[in-house]
Amino acid sequence: MGASRFLQLFLLLGLCACVVQGLGVNWGTMATHPLPPKTVVQLLKDNNITRVKLFDANSDSMSALAGTNIEVMVAIPNNMLKTMNDYGAARDWVKRSVTRYNFEGGVNIKYVAVGNEPFLESYNGSFLNVTFPAFKNIQNALNDAGVGDTIKATIPLNADVYNSPASNPVPSAGRFRTDINDLMIEIVTFMNQTGAPFTVNIYPFLSLYLNADFPVNYAFFDGGSDPVNDNGILYTNVFDANFDTLVSALGRVGLGNLPIIIGEVGWPTDGDRNANAAYAERFYNGLLPRLAANRGTPLRPSQYIEVYLFSLIDEDYKSIQPGNFERHWGILKYDGQPKFNIDLTGQGRSITLVPASGVSYLPRKWCVFDPNGGGNISTLGDQITFACTYSDCTSLGYGSSCNGLDTNGNASYAFNMYYQVQNHQDMSCDFQGIATETTQDPSTSSPACNFTIQIEPYYYSTASSTPIVPLLAVFIQALLALVLM
Ligand SMILES: *[C@@H]1O[C@H](CO)[C@@H](O)[C@H](O)[C@H]1NC(C)=O
Ligand SMILES: *[C@@H]1O[C@H](CO)[C@@H](O)[C@H](O)[C@H]1NC(C)=O
Ligand SMILES: *[C@@H]1O[C@H](CO)[C@@H](O)[C@H](O)[C@H]1NC(C)=O
Ligand SMILES: *[C@@H]1O[C@H](CO)[C@@H](O)[C@H](O)[C@H]1NC(C)=O
Ligand SMILES: *[C@@H]1O[C@H](CO)[C@@H](O)[C@H](O)[C@H]1NC(C)=O
Ligand SMILES: *[C@@H]1O[C@H](CO)[C@@H](O)[C@H](O)[C@H]1NC(C)=O
Ligand SMILES: *[C@@H]1O[C@H](CO)[C@@H](O)[C@H](O)[C@H]1NC(C)=O
Repeated sequence: MGASRFLQLFLLLGLCACVVQGLGVNWGTMATHPLPPKTVVQLLKDNNITRVKLFDANSDSMSALAGTNIEVMVAIPNNMLKTMNDYGAARDWVKRSVTRYNFEGGVNIKYVAVGNEPFLESYNGSFLNVTFPAFKNIQNALNDAGVGDTIKATIPLNADVYNSPASNPVPSAGRFRTDINDLMIEIVTFMNQTGAPFTVNIYPFLSLYLNADFPVNYAFFDGGSDPVNDNGILYTNVFDANFDTLVSALGRVGLGNLPIIIGEVGWPTDGDRNANAAYAERFYNGLLPRLAANRGTPLRPSQYIEVYLFSLIDEDYKSIQPGNFERHWGILKYDGQPKFNIDLTGQGRSITLVPASGVSYLPRKWCVFDPNGGGNISTLGDQITFACTYSDCTSLGYGSSCNGLDTNGNASYAFNMYYQVQNHQDMSCDFQGIATETTQDPSTSSPACNFTIQIEPYYYSTASSTPIVPLLAVFIQALLALVLM
């Protein structure tokens, strides 16, 4: 290919030789074995990730981020929103979680996330009354602390706060959800006053997951599906269409220029037939070059889009109420190892992330089903259910990496996951005599199912982030043993 052809192709694809500026990632800690905060921060540095979004303001994470200059979005979880309706409580929170770190060599806090998708329809309105007062209190407390000019409160919202009418399903018809329209107007008016961005989480994967008829190619950025024609504007992917639906909803209330940032976007790699490494690679390989080119959406063509990928690391303790894929959003596995090729600079190179360094693993031992162990095999079903209640068996389900194991394989997988969560503790590989420890890797190639070994446990210093499941589970296992005896 000649140089000019090459350049032409670049221009045609809207690409340029630029790199992504200021890419962010979400750092969640809903894991039985979270990586130590220092390891995670080193991981961010090694991969040149300059922004991070947290789901709390845990002091261990904050300490690890101190002095790095990484821009941080700290957060107030939904269950604290009600408390923040009291101005004194909001002021104390700001003191404890923001101003305390606001010094030379401290944490470079840029935003405070007030709640996390508080208006999600599945919450049945639980946070409708408490979110806006909390939001105002926090911004006012930031102002009173003298940091309000540089640190803005925002509310990460799910894209389900807006839509287009079924009768006219195009982005230009975007409007806020009717049940929260008035509330949304108050919120965005306040954002406009304070200079805060609108933070939205957009998930093309969920569009596909929730609708069997959704055209697969429309979830990605590489074309191949029939474009949606919106008064002459052609939409070739759902990310753009969704973003512009929000732009239109904002325009409808006179704030069409309110800055928008993407709080979460990504693709999971297991737990559903459309959740796999190949699709995740394809998704990021479309998204990142887009960001690098500073190319916006049809309604905001030249807007630089600030993005936080969801997520940095898998979390085996997240709720799977939305689906089994919830525990597999990481661009890295639970132990900080890469899953697929991804070039965060947006140059589309076939490279992997720099893995976490200095990770310590538990000894190379697994737990497997042992039909000859002398136990009562009729209890197998109950034992599997028990193991999977207290560990992550989401890879066993339909469309997942370990689906297709036989019954014995299922049992071994479940027993091993439990044993790993329990840090190989005494009795955690007993299952009343039908399980045994082994030093032979039971992983299978067909299906390609990885029997993992957990990492050494790390316990966050405050109770809120420390998984309580392992100890509780040992207790319940003991109870169950008595019952089944
Ligand atoms: C990070 O940036 C530095 C300096 O620009 C560069 O030398 C290094 O290769 C980058 N690392 C990665 C993983 O991109
Ligand atoms: C919301 O309502 C549904 C149906 O009544 C119920 O199943 C669900 O548990 C509720 N969710 C919450 C978060 O209250
Ligand atoms: C929110 O406030 C409205 C009006 O005051 C009230 O009817 C509703 O029950 C409240 N909702 C919750 C979840 O507290
Ligand atoms: C948005 O903020 C600007 C600057 O403060 C103000 O002039 C404008 O009236 C606001 N718009 C709305 C719709 O509140
Ligand atoms: C084996 O377990 C089954 C199911 O719990 C129970 O009904 C049966 O009595 C047990 N058999 C023995 C020999 O303990
Ligand atoms: C293994 O477990 C998965 C998930 O529970 C289930 O769908 C599958 O049918 C099981 N396979 C066998 C052979 O029991
Ligand atoms: C399973 O996952 C671990 C942890 O990431 C990795 O070290 C190992 O190579 C994997 N094993 C197989 C068989 O894929």
